[in-house]
Amino acid sequence: MFSPVLLLALALRARAAATPAQAAASAAMSVSLAGVTYVNQGLVGFGRIPSNQTESTGDTIGGIGSAIAIKPGTWRELSNGSYTGILVVQPDRGYNVISPIDYQARRHELSFVLTPYTDVQPLSFDDAQKTFALTYRNTTLLFERNNTKTSGLDPAKIRAAQPGFTTNPLADPQMPIASTAEPHLTLDSEGMIINADGTYWLSDEYGPYIYLFTADGHIIQTIQPPAAILPMDSKGNLNFTANVDPATGRAANQGFEGLTLDPLTSTLYAILQSGTIQDGAAQYTRLFAYDVSEPSFTIPLIGEWVVPLPVVNSKIEATSEIHFVSPGVFLCLSRDGNGHGGSGTTIKYKQADLFSITNATNIHGTAFDSPGTPVSPKGKLASSVTPATYVGFVNYADATQLGRFGLHVGDPDDNTLINAKWESLALAPVGPSAPDDFFFVHRGACFAFHGIFFILLFAFSDNDFLSTQGISLGVPYDAGEDVDNQFLVFRVTLPGAAPGVAAALGL
Ligand SMILES: *[C@@H]1O[C@H](CO)[C@@H](O)[C@H](O)[C@H]1NC(C)=O
Ligand SMILES: *[C@@H]1O[C@H](CO)[C@@H](O)[C@H](O)[C@H]1NC(C)=O
Ligand SMILES: *[C@@H]1O[C@H](CO)[C@@H](O)[C@H](O)[C@H]1NC(C)=O
Ligand SMILES: *[C@@H]1O[C@H](CO)[C@@H](O)[C@H](O)[C@H]1NC(C)=O
Ligand SMILES: *[C@@H]1O[C@H](CO)[C@@H](O)[C@H](O)[C@H]1NC(C)=O
Ligand SMILES: *[C@@H]1O[C@H](CO)[C@@H](O)[C@H](O)[C@H]1NC(C)=O
Repeated sequence: MFSPVLLLALALRARAAATPAQAAASAAMSVSLAGVTYVNQGLVGFGRIPSNQTESTGDTIGGIGSAIAIKPGTWRELSNGSYTGILVVQPDRGYNVISPIDYQARRHELSFVLTPYTDVQPLSFDDAQKTFALTYRNTTLLFERNNTKTSGLDPAKIRAAQPGFTTNPLADPQMPIASTAEPHLTLDSEGMIINADGTYWLSDEYGPYIYLFTADGHIIQTIQPPAAILPMDSKGNLNFTANVDPATGRAANQGFEGLTLDPLTSTLYAILQSGTIQDGAAQYTRLFAYDVSEPSFTIPLIGEWVVPLPVVNSKIEATSEIHFVSPGVFLCLSRDGNGHGGSGTTIKYKQADLFSITNATNIHGTAFDSPGTPVSPKGKLASSVTPATYVGFVNYADATQLGRFGLHVGDPDDNTLINAKWESLALAPVGPSAPDDFFFVHRGACFAFHGIFFILLFAFSDNDFLSTQGISLGVPYDAGEDVDNQFLVFRVTLPGAAPGVAAALGL
């Protein structure tokens, strides 16, 4: 007699081996952007980490989906149709539902086995979790100057800039610190990019800043964005607190949620979660490009564009992550706060969309970089500025797709309801097992020919450390509900993405 697990494994294996190029079980959805067709082939994997899972410091692993990256050099396609690799995942600032805590920033490594499931037959919730099986490996804690632990506390105070700041790229600007008594750098970590040499970029909500760390978690340098983005009071003084909105700059808790790299040109892109206060805290958010080809020598801001976020029933669906696709084109994860661990079971908007900046106005170095000149006063975009072109793409809350993995939208509010907070994206190639699915598309005179690749899109959620059996800074807590970490893997066709994905993964 075969066990149900073995039967599932055999079924998965048969599917994976027999139908490598098959779309996932429902009519594929396609969208066109600047004449290029992008296809959502559907959900092919689901993973889960229980809400009470702990990590090596003893704390609950918690909301690890603030940012994810596939560790360069680890992505493998196995001969049996599965894929393996190591994911680096990053939580934000610990269990902070009551108030921010003195949580040292950290990242974790998880190994995974992905066995894409493309059949129409719904899997049970338990069996579905075997399609993307995750194993916790280890944790790296983050330190700032003088080997001091970072903190997650609200940044009530400011540490003065180091001598040489503005001319020496290794000197810190004004830094957000918890208090004068505890002058530790305080981080609310969101975006993460791992470089080929193991160093990594981390974007944060408080500054909002971008930091470069060594592979073993020690700060190297800090990027400070233009004055228009920095949180300032009505007198023009910096104030990093996230307890109240500033007079100008990023709104509270609306910092650099998204970070991505074009590894072919060494361009680092960061996006604000939503528009600045002077821009009406509205749908017009900004994307920044930095040349990081010589990080410790100079990091110039080389581009800045306005991205119009989706608006549903007058509500802005803020962005939680972006991912570079091809020159000028990005994935953008925009969403509501509904779902498990959130504020209701009816999902209004949870999508990985696409935008292009190829026709958008580059506003970097203009008056819009100062807080006195809003780019969208009272939420109305300046007529001199063309925003990015934004189109909807992958809907996470597709009941048919979720149903194939034992998940649902709407009532009941249990652990098979899709989570509220999706915050991270990663891409990996399906690989040469789909040879007939490789076409050529002409993209016009300024571009070379680009192949079409099938790409796996990984999406991770942030559970805000919600567990009834939690441990925070070594102390047990009960958050009143259990929200597991959920992981979704989609299969998508992204023309032009292959070179960047291959370079990022070290393939
Ligand atoms: C392929 O092999 C790996 C490693 O042994 C295993 O974890 C995975 O479940 C296998 N996949 C299938 C479809 O059998
Ligand atoms: C940019 O403008 C050109 C010319 O009008 C148009 O063909 C193209 O589709 C536009 N691209 C985007 C991304 O909007
Ligand atoms: C998590 O909770 C489950 C169910 O209550 C229990 O079986 C498991 O041992 C717990 N794990 C940890 C790490 O506490
Ligand atoms: C973490 O685990 C991964 C995978 O086993 C390993 O490659 C890496 O060296 C480990 N890192 C640390 C800091 O132990
Ligand atoms: C690091 O320590 C040195 C020596 O005590 C001190 O002068 C410096 O201000 C410290 N730097 C920071 C960023 O705390
Ligand atoms: C920032 O603003 C908060 C709230 O208004 C205030 O409590 C705090 O003292 C201010 N911090 C600085 C550094 O001015």
